Parts: sequence; C-alpha cells; structure tokens
Amino acid sequence: MASVTEASVIVEDQPLGTISRRLYGHFAEHLGRCCYGGLWIGEGAGAVADIDGFRADVVAALRDLPVPLIRWPGGCHADHYHWRDGIGAPSSRPTTLGMSCGLRVPDSNALGTHEFLGLCELLGAEPYLAGNVGTGSVQELCDWIEYVNGTIDTSLTHERAANGRPEPWGVRLWGIGNESWDCGGRFDPVAYAHEYRRYATMIRHVDPRAELVAVGLEDDGLPEMGLDREWNARFLAALGPAVDLVDHLSIHRYWVRGGPEVNFDEADYYALFDEADGTERLIERTARTLAGAAKPSHKIGIALDEWGVWHPEARDWGPGRVDRRMPATFEQANTLRDALAAGIAFEGFHRQCRVLTMANLAQVVNVLQAVVMTDGATCVKTPTYHALAMHRPHMGAEALQVEVATDSAGPFGGPALSATASGRPGRTAVTLINREYRGSVTVTIRAVGAATSSWLLTAASPAAGNDPANPDRVSPRPLIVDGSRAGRCTVTLPPHSMAAIEFATNGASRD
Ligand code: AHR
Repeated sequence: MASVTEASVIVEDQPLGTISRRLYGHFAEHLGRCCYGGLWIGEGAGAVADIDGFRADVVAALRDLPVPLIRWPGGCHADHYHWRDGIGAPSSRPTTLGMSCGLRVPDSNALGTHEFLGLCELLGAEPYLAGNVGTGSVQELCDWIEYVNGTIDTSLTHERAANGRPEPWGVRLWGIGNESWDCGGRFDPVAYAHEYRRYATMIRHVDPRAELVAVGLEDDGLPEMGLDREWNARFLAALGPAVDLVDHLSIHRYWVRGGPEVNFDEADYYALFDEADGTERLIERTARTLAGAAKPSHKIGIALDEWGVWHPEARDWGPGRVDRRMPATFEQANTLRDALAAGIAFEGFHRQCRVLTMANLAQVVNVLQAVVMTDGATCVKTPTYHALAMHRPHMGAEALQVEVATDSAGPFGGPALSATASGRPGRTAVTLINREYRGSVTVTIRAVGAATSSWLLTAASPAAGNDPANPDRVSPRPLIVDGSRAGRCTVTLPPHSMAAIEFATNGASRD
C-alpha cells in the first residue's frame, strides 16, 4: 500500500518581494507551428474562426490564462528576421527563408510588427521584441525602434501611420540578439560586448526609455558545445563603464534529462523535477555574477526568457543528431508531469523575485512546452496551461516566505511536498505540489484567514495529458479543504498533484 506522508506548511508574514507579472511571460517564435498555424491563420482563412487573423480559440484561451508578456519573433529566428519584410500591404511582403534551429521554411511575413503588436493588445500582453544582431545592423534595429515607438514626425513614423498605426506602441523591452554565443553569431563574450555597446548606445539615443536585454549564458549547460562558462562575467567586464547599458541579462534553461515525453519511468519523473529545482540555483548563481559586476547604482535583472521542458522526441534535429521526426516539428506531448515541473519552477521564481525580472515559457502554442496545442479545428489546453492558470493569484502579489516540513523524506532525495505563497490586501494564495509519484500527502496549512477557494490538478497517471477526444482529462477540479476555521486547514493531496488554495484575510489573524 502506498504511504501517506504528513506535512505542514506555514505561511510566514514575511514578504520576499513583488512577483512581477513579467515572470509569467511567454515566447512566440517563427518556428514550426507556433506563430504560423498556432497563432496566425490569416483573416477569414476558412474553417477556423479568426480575430484579426489570429485563431479565435487560441486568443480566447490565452486571454483567460492570462498572458502578461510575449517575446517575439525568436529565438534563433530573431537573428535572421528583418522587420521591414513584415510591414505594409500583405501582397507586397516578400516570402523569405524562415530559419531557426536548423529549419529552413518559407516565411510569408504575414505575421509582422503590426500583427504581433495587435495580438499583444488583444491579449493585454506586454510585447518584448528580439532584435537582430546576427544578420542585422545597428541602423536596422534603431529604425525598428523608431518605427514602433517614435513620437516625432519622421519618414518612419509617417510610414507607420500610413500602415494603419498613427500612435506609437511604446514597446519597452528590446533584446539585442539571441544566444549570440551560438545560433546568433557564435560571438565570444568580448566581441559580443563590443557589439552590444554599439547597439545599446545608439538605441538609447533613439528611445531613452528602451529596456535592453543582453545575451547571457547559463554557466552549467550545454557542455557538449564547449561554450565559455565564464561568458556572463567576461561579457560584463568587457563592457567596462558601459555595463549600465544592460537592464536585463538573458539566460535560457531547458530541462532535457527527464527521459521520454510520455513513457517515462519513476526515475525520469524525479529527474525532471530535479532539473526544475536546478533552475533556481542557476538564477542564484547568475545573480551572484551580476552582483559582482554591476554598478551599485544600476540594477541588472535576470531575464530567463526561454525556459521549460524539451523532451528528446522534440530535440533530435540537426547535423550529427538523430532525427526521429523529420521534418522537425519541435512539438511534444505535454503531461501532468510537465505541469508539475512548471509549478516547481514558479516556486523558485517567486523566491527569486527580487533578482529575476522576467521569465518566458517556451513556447506559447504547439512548440515545446506549449500551453495550447492546435490540431485542425481543435484547440486543447495542456496540463501546463492549467498549472499556470492556477498560479493567477500570485501575479503582481507579494511573495511570502513558506516553511514546509514533512514526516519523511521524499524519494530520490527530493522533497515530497513543496509550496509557494503570496499575499495582497485581503487575501493569501498558496500553491502546493505533492511531488510523490505514488504516495498521498496530508498537509496542515497555517496561513492567516479562512480558505475560500481550492482547486486540485491531478490525474490517474503523471503521464496523462489532454487531447481533442479528452480535452479536460487533466484540468482543475474543486478540492475539499478540511476545517475552514481561520488560520488552519488540512488537505490530502493525491500523488503527483498540485493544489491552489486562497484564504480571505480581512480582519483575520493566525491562531
Ligand atoms: O525555443 C527554441 C530555440 O531554443 C530558440 O530558437 C533558441 O533561442 C533556443 O536554442
């Protein structure tokens, strides 16, 4: 018989910082069926309804999530992207070679600047535009920024108006290249620093309010590529006094050691959680490097602008690697396990909210750890979608310190239960993850106030997912909370599950 672990969770009245809505960002690249097919289908395209050319069902799902931030158009694609190809009458736009991650496909450029920024307005999302360093120029990126944000009468702002948008969009976030140590041009950190300094200086002349994201590198990843593990420190040092031209340093983290996407075993299950936990350690190490390099008067945030699980089924592409899916689609099954791993990552993001300024799950539709998958006329919310939706109350709230104790250690050395909490006037939100593959956990939670709403995300197997025939197999269900007396309640969480509980705190105090 599977064991039942006893656990206690104490939510301390100790704020850790504000959980920026930017930590719940997404990423949409011209890669596979993410942008074309998943988001963009063109106006009046046929069987599937659209809103301004975007799939109406996808837009509705993303609006509900919600999606506070989207990075576009790449990824590796960004360093091939020329923004002028994507403006003006659709019939006048060239079909270009759409490249990213070894793919070479025609790109109609039908989804360009106006369309993407229109999508952001539809979703209420902040845009984050990734600029081209690999095949672009300083002038090209300065022109894009002037076109998008310019308020002065110039040919570019007139052109924007002639294309249907008289008023500027005021986009704040601009990336200077993507993975410039590899697909973005194979720079070394010093050469990239020279490029960065030039780009950033000139961009600041065009738009002093632009927030600039520099390319960093995780210090422990991709050993097979022989990359410079000291990239971040060397890049920042090479900038010298110009280090204050960096507002955010980008790092990426894909989890790749969890075995097969669906047919994983118990060891794989815990290996994925271990990697998800490791994401926080990467953020902490990056923060230490930044603390040693930034000027005391200028804070540089960490932008984890690509993260999530990348299963082997969607990873095998490119020269010298095994291609199991040709052409590569970068699509993978999304299971409850992936959703729990995302929840584990958010626990770390909340704890690190003073140094982590943005995070973008890769990618928003169809590709990698997508929150929505489309198949013909159907659109299915993945388990990861529901995990994110259950975290809604944390967005913009104050992260709170949480103490978790269990009566026995979890298997494979990790904790059996983990938790995160946040507060805002009148309520506290707590999210719990029972990481046990097999066992239940009975948890006593001590938080100010009485539980008012509680939801559980689980399934018979951690390998369960949703599909067009069973779109709600893994979706939140009401959770029974025992003892609604203020300050303390008990819940039993089945194996491999996530719970979200909200407490009304008005006038309440802990017993
Ligand atoms: O998200 C897929 C790819 O992964 C991106 O294009 C690139 O930045 C990263 O290597």
